[in-house]
Amino acid sequence: MRLGEQIEGDWAASLAALAWQLDCGVDEVIGDAGLDRYDLPEPVKPAAAVAPAPPVPAPGRSGAAFVPPPEPPKIDPVAEARGVAARAGSLEALREALEAFDLCDLRKGARSLVFADGDPAARVLILGEAPGREEDMAGRPFVGRAGQLLDRMLAAIGLSRTSPDPAAGVYITNVMPWRPPGNRDPDEAEIAMMRPFVERHIALADPEVIVVMGNTPLMALTGTRGIVRARGSWTQALGRPLLPMVHPAYLLRNPLAKREAWADLLALQARLRGT
Ligand code: URA
Repeated sequence: MRLGEQIEGDWAASLAALAWQLDCGVDEVIGDAGLDRYDLPEPVKPAAAVAPAPPVPAPGRSGAAFVPPPEPPKIDPVAEARGVAARAGSLEALREALEAFDLCDLRKGARSLVFADGDPAARVLILGEAPGREEDMAGRPFVGRAGQLLDRMLAAIGLSRTSPDPAAGVYITNVMPWRPPGNRDPDEAEIAMMRPFVERHIALADPEVIVVMGNTPLMALTGTRGIVRARGSWTQALGRPLLPMVHPAYLLRNPLAKREAWADLLALQARLRGT
């Protein structure tokens, strides 16, 4: 090949190579030597990014509905009292259950729990209303003026809370074991709350007859009011004979009613004698 022919051939090959690169999209010269990209060192991977916490919706502003915290379950005080009273297997356990029972607000204003007095083995159980000031101070039922009258009434038919003989004894308790403020009557909700305890108290003491004194115990055991009308007529409650009598405090205010109260005491005595 002649020199002229060789130059002409190189030139034509270079022109063809350049045209091929242009066809491949090369439009800029960036270096004198080619770059083998398969032989480049591994690039350093960037550190993994930490996902940002999702935004917390501002209450009432973001459109997300505000969900109030769940309300604590409502307590039914009567159901609670029923369960607590039913678990008491003795009078002492019942007293302790009442000491621990904190659903009745009256206990907050009272100085003591007034549970009972007298002989639990007695044939007669006397159920009063609620402690007054003297009872709250002493922690025993019927120790004030009305209680002293009650003791005289019982003595007149040969009964006493201090008798060592259960046949001549009495057991005395109240519907409400805590003194209500200002000596007000317990309301119906309070009576309903105490009723399971009263029922259990009577079941554990197991008296032969019950005497209710005043409207509160009449209501608690028979669901009725009107002690002045109901007095003196034997009825039944909790499967036992029940005699309603007016409250001794009523007799202190109404001495003329003592005549009827005397008749009721004689009816009680006759019942105990089996006559
Ligand atoms: N009245 C009641 O009914 N109970 C008492 O304990 C005292 C007064």
